[in-house]
Amino acid sequence: MKPEIAIYTSTPLLKAVATKIVEIHDAAIKQSGKFSIALSGGNTPRKLYELLAQPPYAKKIQWKSVYVFWGDERYLPLNHHDNNSHMASQALLDHVPIPKENIFRVPVHFPARQAGVAYDELIRGFFHGQEPRFDLILLGLGDDGHTASLFPGTNILEEKNDLVQTVFIEKLEQFRVSFTVPLINLAKHIIFLVTGEDKCQIVGKIFHKKGRTLSYPAQYIHPTSGKLYWFLDKAAASQLK
Ligand code: 6PG
Repeated sequence: MKPEIAIYTSTPLLKAVATKIVEIHDAAIKQSGKFSIALSGGNTPRKLYELLAQPPYAKKIQWKSVYVFWGDERYLPLNHHDNNSHMASQALLDHVPIPKENIFRVPVHFPARQAGVAYDELIRGFFHGQEPRFDLILLGLGDDGHTASLFPGTNILEEKNDLVQTVFIEKLEQFRVSFTVPLINLAKHIIFLVTGEDKCQIVGKIFHKKGRTLSYPAQYIHPTSGKLYWFLDKAAASQLK
């Protein structure tokens, strides 16, 4: 299925993503009574999370039926300013009536490798051993083509069975806990949110893929049966033909 590509200028971009999230939320609640979402980290989504914490979006979301996970996490204490769940709490989760038990943070108090195993088990348990299909997974894009914590040249890119793994990222000198490609591709909806001129080159390379070689981790993302959306601002999309 071809990805749906939406290109907006900045402010409408975030409103368009928030509107799409509410739309996916509505369909999920109607179908199953719950909405499972995996948030992305880094800087780009902060303003989106702040928008979701305000009317009209905050009032349209049935927070008691929302279940929040993270597609990846830096192996840092939960109160560290670079911890992805810390950012999401500050921007969104501390400001909406979501039950604490609906928030599934990566257990970074475990030893690094164990944190990945524990999060894998937590997700399998959440889906009661059924196929772990998130209603929505949000993703960002690094200028090296990484997404979640799937970095170029790392073994996790070839993982076929685990849902989550802990990886050590040499260039960052940091452990990361990340969803694997199979888990991401099982999602019913996947949204890439990419903004800024510093991402235009990598966006161009990803979309102008030559042949079948997958040069960048973001190119591994193809939903098995779900929908893939790219929300780009004009700066990030400037090299797309
Ligand atoms: C993380 C993210 C990562 C991020 C990209 C883009 O933990 O850093 O999940 O995949 O989405 O690195 O980050 P920026 O939005 O800060 O450019």
